[in-house]
Amino acid sequence: MTSVRFDDFMQKALYGDGGFYTSGSVTTGSRGDFITSPNVGPLFAEVVGRYFETVWQQSGQGEITIYDVGCNKGDFLNALSKSDVARDKPWRLVGVDYLHGDLTPEEFNEVNLANSIVFANELLDNMPFRVLRKVGKEPSGTGPNGAFQELFVVSGQRTWQSTNDFPAWVSSLVQELEIGIEFPVHQQARAWVEQVLERKPLSLLCIDYGMASSAELADRGDWLRLYQDHQVSTDSTNLNSSADITTDVSFDQLPKAVNLQTQAQFLKEHGIDELVAEAEKLNPADALANLAAMKIKSRISESATLLDQASFGSFLVAGW
Ligand SMILES: C[S@@+](CC[C@H](N)C(=O)[O-])C[C@H]1O[C@@H](n2cnc3c(N)ncnc32)[C@H](O)[C@@H]1O
Repeated sequence: MTSVRFDDFMQKALYGDGGFYTSGSVTTGSRGDFITSPNVGPLFAEVVGRYFETVWQQSGQGEITIYDVGCNKGDFLNALSKSDVARDKPWRLVGVDYLHGDLTPEEFNEVNLANSIVFANELLDNMPFRVLRKVGKEPSGTGPNGAFQELFVVSGQRTWQSTNDFPAWVSSLVQELEIGIEFPVHQQARAWVEQVLERKPLSLLCIDYGMASSAELADRGDWLRLYQDHQVSTDSTNLNSSADITTDVSFDQLPKAVNLQTQAQFLKEHGIDELVAEAEKLNPADALANLAAMKIKSRISESATLLDQASFGSFLVAGW
């Protein structure tokens, strides 16, 4: 039986033939496999669109392209295209994903990103990650030899193998960890961010669940999650390809962001409260009378969900 490194296992389980994201059976929303901020309603895109508007104005450019990487079925760009903030703007909206994107991930890697904004909501947590476990204090001898084990999968079961084959930046981030603690290594996500930044977009904005520090996340535990049919599990003793595999993201493993704030802080900075105040001023009779008014009124409940500190509100927004 072959043992497969966890990130290779995840790559195949999610994005291989018939994988979780490539089988076409993923459902989103409150009754789906998972729910994201764009699935909550149109308010999220309206506020993030205000951020795009600021970047666009500051750039002094005419036409720009906005890429939504990991667009899934396109809910975010669909809402953005109908938003007040995008009306009459010379913005080209392009979705990137395996199944429903205008571009595949491979095609996106070849695109010139000058005059572009790159946006990714809940992408990095879905990029295959490695899992290490600290088993010795380092330096032991001449380097990290013997200090870590790595997670492999054999027939859906977890197994650990000693390793000293990992990037140099890993060990310094987890120096303070106790023996026995496991943590994710976001090597692919880090390389993806680096590759995007090398192409010098006007801005890269990534939103995800996670923590600023690898050591704190590892200490807290429960960062690996399996999602299916809106059930969440942190029990990874039986791994199969019918569940979404995700991790909280340790943002200190990515290139240092210019801005790192919570989703609640970000949405407030970009005007969510003003949009909600407009909704609160609406006369209840008007709100029932037409669709546009109903959409505005729904901002009140959408905002509460998007700012909720127990979930979306505490997500981290990294801007470069
Ligand atoms: C949790 S979903 C997020 C969907 C959407 N952004 C949202 O907020 O509703 C993650 C998506 O990222 C896609 N994905 C994973 N790796 C990718 C990559 N390298 N490039 C583009 N999309 C990717 C997956 O196929 C999946 O559709």
